[in-house]
Amino acid sequence: MTNIWKTNPSGIARAAERLREGGLVAVPTETVYGLAARAADASAVAQIFETKQRPSFNPLIVHCENEGAAETVARFDHCARKLAAKFWPGPLTLVLPRAAEAEVADLVTAGLDTVAVRVPQHPVAQALLGALGEPFVAPSANRSGRISPTTASHVVDEFGPAIPVLDGGPCAEGLESTIVSLVNSRPTLLRPGAVLPRDIEAVLGHPLQAPGGGIEAPGMMTSHYAPAVPLRLNAEAPRAGEQFLGFGALGASDATLSASGDLREAAANLFALLRALDANGKPIAVASIPQEGLGVAINDRLARAAAPRPT
Ligand code: TXA
Ligand code: MG
Repeated sequence: MTNIWKTNPSGIARAAERLREGGLVAVPTETVYGLAARAADASAVAQIFETKQRPSFNPLIVHCENEGAAETVARFDHCARKLAAKFWPGPLTLVLPRAAEAEVADLVTAGLDTVAVRVPQHPVAQALLGALGEPFVAPSANRSGRISPTTASHVVDEFGPAIPVLDGGPCAEGLESTIVSLVNSRPTLLRPGAVLPRDIEAVLGHPLQAPGGGIEAPGMMTSHYAPAVPLRLNAEAPRAGEQFLGFGALGASDATLSASGDLREAAANLFALLRALDANGKPIAVASIPQEGLGVAINDRLARAAAPRPT
């Protein structure tokens, strides 16, 4: 049994409906197949990490129908507009400051105040964005640590029949999008990909900075959002002066990741709750989270947040 859907108008409408209901759909782009969820739906985004069996939360790329839609998610400067005008729709991803009103779940950006955006060129990805009427996120549609899929049957090999796949044929580029960060003083190449650096440099009028010198490559993200207040893990109860972040049966005096002990709900709430408690300025004690399924990624994130900070 497979779950390969046609890309005619009824297949696209069905896929958009599935996303609206909080489900996942694999969608072809010009680079590789992506595993899509509504960018605003924290629980669906958590389901992506669960499905990919990712042991950590890497931020995801927000896919938009056009530059106008991308400007509701990210703040564009002159440089960003020049690159968008030249390469969109197409395989270039821009990392930009997140717009204040962006309707993007905190899990998408791993709590960072930057966001990666791109406008895909593939007609099926475009049709799905049009039918949905809002952005979706889409990491490559493979289990963690495996090769990115470039055909619908590759995706079925990864996830079996559980995830419907819109069959747009083989991907033209077969290589992920190039990622350029515009959040530092100089445009930086974070991931080489389908658009060549020299073509980007021709538009910018100067060379791209290579990652390094404190700027980390994607996949090795050390600069995830970390709270300013101390974090204590595997706590059974708060000590004097602490705020308690509960899970399951362990109390919810201040906040709970999931009162029912649901890991998907916990992942969906994680970054927003850390931010909210951080803003209160008091140390945080966190209940222990089972080290299984999404709990592995949640614990990875909590361990980093609790680790001693570089000074
Ligand atoms: O071609 C592509 O970009 C494909 C197709 C499906 O669109 N998608 C893709 O997504 O390659 P993914 O999740 O496999 O890779 C996204 C990369 C990650 O390495 C992540 O670290 C980086 O983008 N990224 C996302 N948001 C970021 C941010 N705010 N700052 C720095 N890097 C970011
Ligand atoms: Mg990938």
